[in-house]
Amino acid sequence: MPGQLPDGDAAPADGALPDGTALTGRGFGVYVHVPFCASRCGYCDFNTYTAAELGGGASRDQYADTVLAELALARRIVRPPRVDTVFFGGGTPTLLDPDDLGRILEAIDRTWGLASDAEVTTEANPESVTPESLGRLRKAGFTRVSLGMQSAALGVLEVLDRKHTPGRARAAALEAREAGFDHVNLDLIYGTPGESVDDFAASLAAAVGAGVDHVSAYALIVEDGTRLATRMRRGELPYPSDDVAADRYLAAEAALGAAGFSWYEVSNWATSAAARCRHNLLYWTGGDWWGLGPGAHSHVGGVRWWNVKHPSTYASRLAAGASPGHAREILTDADRHVEDVMLRLRLASGLPLDALDAGGRAAAVERVEEGLLEQRDGRMVLTLRGRLLADAVVRDLLP
Ligand SMILES: C[S@@+](CC[C@H](N)C(=O)[O-])C[C@H]1O[C@@H](n2cnc3c(N)ncnc32)[C@H](O)[C@@H]1O
Ligand code: SF4
Repeated sequence: MPGQLPDGDAAPADGALPDGTALTGRGFGVYVHVPFCASRCGYCDFNTYTAAELGGGASRDQYADTVLAELALARRIVRPPRVDTVFFGGGTPTLLDPDDLGRILEAIDRTWGLASDAEVTTEANPESVTPESLGRLRKAGFTRVSLGMQSAALGVLEVLDRKHTPGRARAAALEAREAGFDHVNLDLIYGTPGESVDDFAASLAAAVGAGVDHVSAYALIVEDGTRLATRMRRGELPYPSDDVAADRYLAAEAALGAAGFSWYEVSNWATSAAARCRHNLLYWTGGDWWGLGPGAHSHVGGVRWWNVKHPSTYASRLAAGASPGHAREILTDADRHVEDVMLRLRLASGLPLDALDAGGRAAAVERVEEGLLEQRDGRMVLTLRGRLLADAVVRDLLP
């Protein structure tokens, strides 16, 4: 969840949705944002706070209770048949005690009912978990752990301000498997200044050697206002290069493909259909979700809203019995079309040709001729070269 919130229309104080808003029926997920980190990585502009940045305004100890208050409000607003997926993201959810995370999960189950096969993920920094905490999370009902590995190269981890050793992510993944997690993801970042071809090859080898069933690999994004952006502006570090990013992406595809992973979204690879992140797939296929926590976004039946950003404002709104919703927008048919094309074209399952207007279909035929798209059973799917240029291909297909 990047730091800046969009504008939008004011959200009502009671959190009510416009009359006639109905669930899409494409699955219901719950996102729980945990806005705390032990230290701030120079590249990250997510809505997260170190203890010093928080300045005592909102306490980590009371955070689970504050989230429970939002859940009590949410229960009055939506009544999904069940919860299919839950995702605790951050920040660093695992800075909270597993009992707190378990208490929130239990409350979600009491509120809406967890499906018997629900996917329950927590993000975790490699150094923030132990065999004991992972065991407690598994026992509390978590089914999946997503670890921020970023790199296996010491120099790269230093540029990224990561606090873990190169080997810690792999060790944490093995500990998660030992604790009974069948589903473990490792996040990698490529294209960091100073990262060599060999550094990234070593990161990929370490990730596949950790026995995980999912890998996400993201090109380093230089976000405005971050320490990394300042260092680049001052000339202390070079800006990432698109050509290097493309080479790294091809290296990821080759190494992960050889190790039995297949891409199912441009930045995500899994060893089987069961290993794909169902929560993210729900986002990408137009499902409904409630986002709990400061700055969290929600979507129900074409209405999207987002909470106030700061943890103290979030807590004080709820303490006053008001919704933490800050603003919202009601998606028009045109907005939905743009989102649908943007998100589904990035999936290996592709975009049905009939989801495009006449101009989009004509552009898609041209992209097929250029080798950026291929047509499979009436669906448009990005080729490997198309995946390198996914954003440009999407733009071409839109009105
Ligand atoms: C918000 S973090 C939360 C995970 C956890 N706190 C951690 O850092 O290990 C989720 C993932 O987003 C990715 N990410 C965050 N900022 C990024 C950036 N500027 N460029 C590329 N990837 C980024 C990282 O791979 C990170 O693991
Ligand atoms: S630990 Fe994760 S969420 Fe926190 S600052 Fe670093 S990348 Fe961002």
